[in-house]
Amino acid sequence: MTDYRLTHPVTDRKGATLLATGTHLTHQVMETLFSGQAAANKTCRLLDYQQIRSDLLGFFASSPYDLIFQDARRQQELLDIAGDVVLPEPVLESLYHFRKLDFYTYRHALLVFALSIIIARELIDDRAALLQEVMAGPTHDVGKLCVPLEVLTKEKPLTKAEHAHLRHHALAGYVLLSYYFQDPGILAAEVARDHHERRDGSGYPIGVSVDNLMIDIIMVSDVYDALISPRPYRPVSFDNRSALEELTRQAEAGIISEIVARVLVALNRRSQPHFSRCVISTERRGSPPSKNLYGVIDPND
Ligand SMILES: [Fe+2]
Ligand SMILES: [Fe+2]
Repeated sequence: MTDYRLTHPVTDRKGATLLATGTHLTHQVMETLFSGQAAANKTCRLLDYQQIRSDLLGFFASSPYDLIFQDARRQQELLDIAGDVVLPEPVLESLYHFRKLDFYTYRHALLVFALSIIIARELIDDRAALLQEVMAGPTHDVGKLCVPLEVLTKEKPLTKAEHAHLRHHALAGYVLLSYYFQDPGILAAEVARDHHERRDGSGYPIGVSVDNLMIDIIMVSDVYDALISPRPYRPVSFDNRSALEELTRQAEAGIISEIVARVLVALNRRSQPHFSRCVISTERRGSPPSKNLYGVIDPND
């Protein structure tokens, strides 16, 4: 098993420490993590929790999602699938916690989930299998619970130490989801851990290429939403064309999945071609924002 070691503590949503800094996430550590819990957590449908359904519908109306979700049938199919996603209540509380404290993270979690459903629909035919896969989407960033809010919402370049803390969200999410689902083998936990890995090994937490369709789907949806959404460190977001060009570039460079990127480009075409017939131009016509501090380390650090 790959040696995952925590660089920071993992705390639950109430602040209690589950695992300390330096803990190696061995099979035994993960097994004992939840064995002390008395009973299974209560569950609830994601879309029935508080205002999640109406928030999601509101997000669909904002550009460029209004283009992707403009087709009423596509939107209904998406809601039908999303409506069957059931999560443990502490996981829903953790997700909803961001609605008040870091709205960007909350909106991002739900939009990545929605995108991942419409992409997965194109690639997975079996409805039951599809549902098992897509339920891993909304919680991919839940580990941000273990990152200080000042880091999540900082408007200036992060220091090296802050970057390391931000990256901690991948393993923290793996631990938290294993704990709340009471199952260290659950796909949601794996997706949280691996969604920042890259196919060329340039990602984190380990720097390995991961062969898993849902991780590829979340990876692409995650990068896309991050590019087109306003972020604390980037007042101007990428326009849709530039974002899709950037995804195409990353797919061509072997960083992200080519087929998943192609599905997303096809979903953005007004003519709605099937992704297998979607011709992707390598010509660059978009204009990415000039003030982009993503990944920039504070020069004074
Ligand atoms: Fe993330
Ligand atoms: Fe994310």
